[in-house]
Amino acid sequence: MKQSDRVTRIPKSAIHEMTRLSKQYDDVAFLSWAKPSGGTPEHINRAAINAIQKGLTGEYSASDGLVQLREEIVRKLKRDNNIEGKADELLVTVGAIEGLAAAVLATIDPGDEVILPSPTYSTHIRQVELASGKPVLVPLIEEQNYALDIAAVRSAITDKTRAIMYCNPNNPTGTVFPESQLRQLAKIAIEHDLMVITDEAYEYFVFDGNRHFSIASVPEMKKQVISAYTLTKTYAMTGWRVGYVHADEAVIAQIRKAHIPLAICAPVVSQYAAIAALQGSQDCISEFRQHYFIARNLMCERLDQLPEVFDYVKPGGSYLMFPRIKLAEGRDSLAFCKQLLRDIQVSTTPGVAFGPTGESHLRLSFCVLEETINLAFDRMEKYFG
Ligand SMILES: Cc1ncc(COP(=O)(O)O)c(C=O)c1O
Repeated sequence: MKQSDRVTRIPKSAIHEMTRLSKQYDDVAFLSWAKPSGGTPEHINRAAINAIQKGLTGEYSASDGLVQLREEIVRKLKRDNNIEGKADELLVTVGAIEGLAAAVLATIDPGDEVILPSPTYSTHIRQVELASGKPVLVPLIEEQNYALDIAAVRSAITDKTRAIMYCNPNNPTGTVFPESQLRQLAKIAIEHDLMVITDEAYEYFVFDGNRHFSIASVPEMKKQVISAYTLTKTYAMTGWRVGYVHADEAVIAQIRKAHIPLAICAPVVSQYAAIAALQGSQDCISEFRQHYFIARNLMCERLDQLPEVFDYVKPGGSYLMFPRIKLAEGRDSLAFCKQLLRDIQVSTTPGVAFGPTGESHLRLSFCVLEETINLAFDRMEKYFG
């Protein structure tokens, strides 16, 4: 039976493939997943249990999400993103991912082009392909800490370009794009009437004095930005599947039309957990950030001990880094990842999964226990030494 070309053409997810392969071994030092492992804070769990016990969670919510949650999000956007929003400009989604999928579907028609500075999160590339769009990958400048190449973005624009889509901080490189560059990008979007779709999943995890800047805080961009956020990374809630999208009211109305056939609404129990997360103490965020900061520094120190094997740019944010493999066998990053897993049970993610300029790199997650980082690097030092 014939299956859709659109889906058949999509390559297997390298991240999920490495997870599957890792299950064949005991005692894997696992650096493949970008997910917090510390557990959801107790007060959030308790709020969900209370909501269940009160019988509040057994039915769909409104498709845009509980009003109380959207009102909390409005306060958060003002406080932390400098965005003046309204509850009617919000859609609560099944993680950031479903919101982004709906946003892409609402923005492009088949054959339209979306510019993605890359390497970038492979899921964004797949979302454009699923909407029958054409991802146009514009390389970041690795030699300048993976900076946005504004001139290259400008020259990639054609009469089919509809949107620019990026994550900030970036997965997989951990780059925090500075306000000055994002303002230049905003200017280009305004000049060419393009939508900007942002994924700000790692907004709170920035280090070394970097500041997270939301392009939707530029008032002239009001009608031209769709911003996706998530509680899943911020509060260690990846399994709860709850995030949200903010855009101008007319744009949100269109995204909602794509959201309903994808999800109807976000899980209601998770929406109650999200209210508690936003209303409660935010100390857990700084604790997570401090943990990632220490883990990042440790990973950098350990990479410094392998100068013949890796070059790297210290990530200013996220909990991911993207070292270049200097060895000849690293030119095929998938084969190199499989070799590391098979020979020393260290699980990483091949850079090629994040676009062609990701080839010859590995993505390493430092959202793990320090002992996992040490175990992985003890093994690599012995192996390459
Ligand atoms: C950049 C980025 N956006 C979104 C997600 C997933 O977010 P959510 O769990 O909210 O769907 C990930 C997960 O790895 C990610 O790295």
